[in-house]
Amino acid sequence: MTQRPYVIDVMISAKSIAARIEALCEEITAEFGGTDKLIVVGLLRGSFVFIADLVRELDLPIEVDFLEASSYGDGMESSREVRILKDLRGAIEGRDVLVVEDIVDTGHTLSHVTKLLLSRNPARLKSIALLDKPSRREVDFRSDWIGFEIPDEFVVGYGIDFAQRNRNLPHIGKVRFLDEDK
Ligand code: IMP
Ligand code: MG
Repeated sequence: MTQRPYVIDVMISAKSIAARIEALCEEITAEFGGTDKLIVVGLLRGSFVFIADLVRELDLPIEVDFLEASSYGDGMESSREVRILKDLRGAIEGRDVLVVEDIVDTGHTLSHVTKLLLSRNPARLKSIALLDKPSRREVDFRSDWIGFEIPDEFVVGYGIDFAQRNRNLPHIGKVRFLDEDK
């Protein structure tokens, strides 16, 4: 838990997020149109707001499942070693799968999860991330759909936390520490 004082500046408004999700869902519906086998997999906990808005814009028959991979803990740096803390409830063999993530940062989490799920032989596996920080990438990974590319800033809100706080902000904000000149 941080002791450093900080404020949160708005980076992406709730309105912009909603508009982007609408556009993304048209593409996703076109990609998976006709399937009745789609499982939307949210990565806990950061994607819980995004997946809730996303599935309500998808005009497809779907199932929803969740998976939790190890996270940052309470810090701001990736642990790089990805562990599965909570696995899917259901089997995905022969199913279409859409993995939903909050942010692709170093890329370790989504690349690890994608490989794991592919080893279970889904019919098709795609991924979507609300945010992407391409300048931070350490492994060669690209999500099939991305909401917004952002610079190397630590962000919170819309499900995303800083030391478990700020997930309930309706927008994406960036953390600005008051004890450093920037
Ligand atoms: P990666 O494995 O480095 O790509 O990390 C992805 C995970 O790190 C995301 O699912 C987030 O949980 C977390 N993360 C990355 N950047 C931020 C950030 O700016 N704020 C909060 N969490 C972040
Ligand atoms: Mg995460």
